[in-house]
Amino acid sequence: MKITVFGTGYVGLVTGTCLADVGHDVVCVDIDQSKIDRLTQGEIPIYEPGLESMVLRNVEAQRLSFTTDARKAVEHGVLQFIAVGTPPDEDGSADLQYVLAVAATIGQYMNDYKVVIDKSTVPVGTADKVSACIAGVLAERVAEFDFDVCSNPEFLKEGSALEDFTRGARIVVGTDSDRVADLMRECYAPYNRNREKLMFMSVRAAELTKYAANAMLATKISFMNEMANLAERLGADIEDVRRGIGSDPRIGYHFIYPGCGYGGSCFPKDVQALARTASKVGYQAELLQAVEAVNKRQKSTLFDKLSHALGGELAGKTIALWGLAFKPETDDMRDAPSRALMERLWEEGAVVQAYDPEAMKECRRLYGERDDLVLVADRVQAVKKADALVVCTEWKEFRTLDAGWIREQLSHPVVIDGRNLFDPEAMANAGIDYYAVGRGKTMPLATAV
Ligand code: UDX
Repeated sequence: MKITVFGTGYVGLVTGTCLADVGHDVVCVDIDQSKIDRLTQGEIPIYEPGLESMVLRNVEAQRLSFTTDARKAVEHGVLQFIAVGTPPDEDGSADLQYVLAVAATIGQYMNDYKVVIDKSTVPVGTADKVSACIAGVLAERVAEFDFDVCSNPEFLKEGSALEDFTRGARIVVGTDSDRVADLMRECYAPYNRNREKLMFMSVRAAELTKYAANAMLATKISFMNEMANLAERLGADIEDVRRGIGSDPRIGYHFIYPGCGYGGSCFPKDVQALARTASKVGYQAELLQAVEAVNKRQKSTLFDKLSHALGGELAGKTIALWGLAFKPETDDMRDAPSRALMERLWEEGAVVQAYDPEAMKECRRLYGERDDLVLVADRVQAVKKADALVVCTEWKEFRTLDAGWIREQLSHPVVIDGRNLFDPEAMANAGIDYYAVGRGKTMPLATAV
């Protein structure tokens, strides 16, 4: 099939490449000339395991190409995926300007029947807006072409996006048209072999499914973080509690790891956007607001624990940071807990000495050269001459730690672990002040129970 994908960001690039990989003829289009130039030369702008080789082999096989020529792109595909960004605007709602700009472009160059597919995470009702926008442009052109708009949300996790695309749990398609259903069936047939994964539903149900999935997952995390904070104050180990509740199949072990707060491009933005959508239709989504508030508070726990452990004296201290990305296997630092921590440390006059296996370049891009940010070559360098260590991301290479050696390196034997990677007992035995999430040393209790 001939397929066009608008947007060569994370979602667009993965979608276009995976569809080309099963033999479709895919054109990816973007307004950013330098990005397209780099992609054409085989340079992948994001870090995603396996993506680079997949892009290269499909470009070589001439099933995948990149362009800024919107007319050519619109004329190419019967399927037109919209996978451009929907950043939050001032009030947290998803900003649809890029989605609607693509819709207008499709209307402008449409030369035949097209299925326009919302792949970006967009608020419920967006397909209607996209449809109205295309119809408006066609009317201006005095052109009459038939088209449909459907919703086909992505459920990709950074770091395992190819796996999620090719072996995902479901493929949700929101449409009330049989013609669209048939075309979408054909598009996804190679990924729908072993069992029926396609789920057809109304456009609005598909749009809401995406938000509901992310909001549910974010809720699980905030719930666990709330329990961890309680466990700390009640003298229980949250990791025991996690195993205890996870064994109930109604709860399950997935996605109940307490930590230093969720980050990334989806959860923070989507929970906020869904809460905004709710209030626009006159509904106060109290649970969603609480999920967000708990997460915000959780991100500050790293700083609070560190400050407590160092007696509030942070000015002039050097803090070692292991992990900058919001999670392992990505270089993405959007809404990462490390950022909340670094920014707070800088306010207090501390120096950050950080290492991340993938996100160093991104960190430099975000914060530039500054005296209070030292990026080092490995995790060992990070703790050299540091006063304390904070672990923000659970990269595999951080999972082992020679407690005795760490103690020798740090001027204060303080380790703040935002991911519960180490054994509190072993750390205590090695003489380390070990603060984790819902276990390890605790902050002073406000009221003893
Ligand atoms: C998420 C969804 O999982 C995906 O389906 C959707 O399409 C996009 O958003 P992603 O943002 O890539 O994917 O990351 P994910 O692996 O889901 O982790 C999100 C955040 O939650 C990370 O900051 C992670 O550290 C945190 N998390 C996850 C926890 O704190 N505890 C957990 O148990 C799981």
